[in-house]
Amino acid sequence: MRYALVTGASGGIGKELARCLASRKWNLLLVARDEKALAELAKELSQTHQIDVHYRSADLAKPAEVESLVEWVNGLQVPLGVLVNNAGYGVWGAFETVDWQAQQQMLQVNVMALLQITHRLLPLLKASGKPAYILQVGSLAGYLPLPYFNLYAASKALVNSFTRALACELRQHHIHVCLLAPGAVATRFNERAGLKDIPAAQRYAMPADAVAKAAVNGLFKGKAIVMPGYSNRIMARLVSCLPKGWSMAVVARIYKPSENQTSH
Ligand SMILES: NC(=O)c1ccc[n+]([C@@H]2O[C@H](COP(=O)([O-])OP(=O)(O)OC[C@H]3O[C@@H](n4cnc5c(N)ncnc54)[C@H](OP(=O)(O)O)[C@@H]3O)[C@@H](O)[C@H]2O)c1
Repeated sequence: MRYALVTGASGGIGKELARCLASRKWNLLLVARDEKALAELAKELSQTHQIDVHYRSADLAKPAEVESLVEWVNGLQVPLGVLVNNAGYGVWGAFETVDWQAQQQMLQVNVMALLQITHRLLPLLKASGKPAYILQVGSLAGYLPLPYFNLYAASKALVNSFTRALACELRQHHIHVCLLAPGAVATRFNERAGLKDIPAAQRYAMPADAVAKAAVNGLFKGKAIVMPGYSNRIMARLVSCLPKGWSMAVVARIYKPSENQTSH
């Protein structure tokens, strides 16, 4: 059986994606910074599903660590059939007040690491000679410019757009590329983004296991986009029909930090 690489597998959606792939008997390569969480998940999944699981701690905000990760994957000399670029996070706040380094690092993880890993591992995905799969985790947030969540939404707009184009380019090579574009999901995302005091951001959050299940089903069924949740699909439609200025004004009212709220 071939291997699936999952970034951001230490928690949230990535951990559930790894579980879904394991239940389909994919061997796994797990990546994130939290080595202890990866080790525990590797033990759980290898014992439960009798699969081979390797893991590696890597900070994807550092290009050199992304490169070392790619070398590690190539060095394992295992057949790679699935690549899941899931690692990512948001930084909330007014653009001018958020620390510049924090914004740069987010872009590095959400965008540059995803592109670098995809570019560098495509030869390995092609090498197995069988159909291969790439799942890129974008977001519903990439469908509309979001005031006070500005660069996060822009980073996901890039992922969303890039993924659709790449799917078209790779179809002839039998590599199926799928975009997962979730709305709110109950993970550590909001806490990490500094959004935990904004109740609207967490309302209607879907469980991570349901999102992961829909994503993996959609990936292997050859879907171009998986957007779990009926209300999220309606939201995406509305956003494309309503005047952008009006939608952004609503978002700005929800996300604008109050005087006593601090962003990153
Ligand atoms: N939750 C939502 O509402 C939501 C909605 C739409 C899209 N998404 C997207 O879904 C993906 C997963 O997020 P989540 O909701 O599952 O959040 P999460 O629970 O915070 O998980 C984020 C994952 O990314 C990893 N990660 C973060 N920074 C990293 C770094 N510098 N290097 C390596 N790994 C890093 C984390 O691992 P370590 O901390 O161990 O490194 C963790 O495994 C993200 O791309 C996010 O943008 C989430």
